[in-house]
Amino acid sequence: MEHNEHVVERYERAWILFGLGMVTVFIILIGYMMLTMGNTNPVGAGRIDATKVRTEGDFANPRVEQVGNEYVAYIQAFAFGYLPAEMRFKVGKKVTFYITSPDVQHSFQVHNTNINVQVIPGEIAMVSHTFTRPGEYPIICNEYCGLGHANMISKLIVEP
Ligand code: CUA
Repeated sequence: MEHNEHVVERYERAWILFGLGMVTVFIILIGYMMLTMGNTNPVGAGRIDATKVRTEGDFANPRVEQVGNEYVAYIQAFAFGYLPAEMRFKVGKKVTFYITSPDVQHSFQVHNTNINVQVIPGEIAMVSHTFTRPGEYPIICNEYCGLGHANMISKLIVEP
């Protein structure tokens, strides 16, 4: 019956529009979150010989460098801690973290931010963040990495 077919088409069209509407809403939400929380998606920044992390290159000298108006941090996540042991940044300046591991898999999660990076030996993870509030930010490892995993904590300090 022609009449019924039209009813079905209308019904389908409504669902297609609903689906497209939801996709649009999600895209807008994701964009909004990236803008408001900072786009801190970690990316791979290259590979490194895990056996040489402690002896060669930037990670053998874990540090925070000020480059112009920004910071660059080279971080070792190891069993069981982080180097450098203390990091300080001025509020409102972009920080780019490069992180790797000389031993097993760890993670680098900074509380009260959306920084949460898996750290894999042989891989360099990179993540950028601009701290908008001064204070102490705990750093924790949330990949089980051995007996000392629960004690693998640190902190960074954002100064006003
Ligand atoms: Cu490192 Cu858990």
